[in-house]
Amino acid sequence: MRKQLFKCPVTVFDLPDELAPGDQALLALARQTREDAYAPYSGFKVGAAALMENGEMLSGTNYENASYPLTICAEQAVLAAASSRFPGMAVRALAISVKNLKQVIAHPAAPCGACRQVIYETERKNDAGIRVILQGETGPVYIIERGRDLLPLAFDETYL
Ligand code: THU
Repeated sequence: MRKQLFKCPVTVFDLPDELAPGDQALLALARQTREDAYAPYSGFKVGAAALMENGEMLSGTNYENASYPLTICAEQAVLAAASSRFPGMAVRALAISVKNLKQVIAHPAAPCGACRQVIYETERKNDAGIRVILQGETGPVYIIERGRDLLPLAFDETYL
């Protein structure tokens, strides 16, 4: 018997202006896009911005539905759009910003489990890691160097 430890290394920036300029720009796009989220049921707005290999930035938001389970998360919206617009092109980074209309979120919200699986699928299909940049409405910024780190013991196509 042996124990194995899976780690998720996170770099913490107490102030967003400590970020590299490119990361600041991507996060700013996620924050701006977040305001357009369609989230009338939860009041939880999420903006996601993807930096493509060619330098283009795409963004998306969560998109809720009166039939709740049909809701699409922001991360999944932007990664699907990235794959349609630039098939096979690596996504270099993904910034995610959240805002709760009922309370100020002062720390980053990590992507849900389903989104982690979609981020990982995108990494595998493009054979390129995605730097994940997280921030709440205010407060510190977390950077996780590869989406894979957010999903220990991940399921992937090698099982199929
Ligand atoms: N949501 C996202 O967009 N991304 C996540 O990773 C977590 C949750 C959305 C879905 C729903 O519209 C709202 O946040 C509350 O769950």
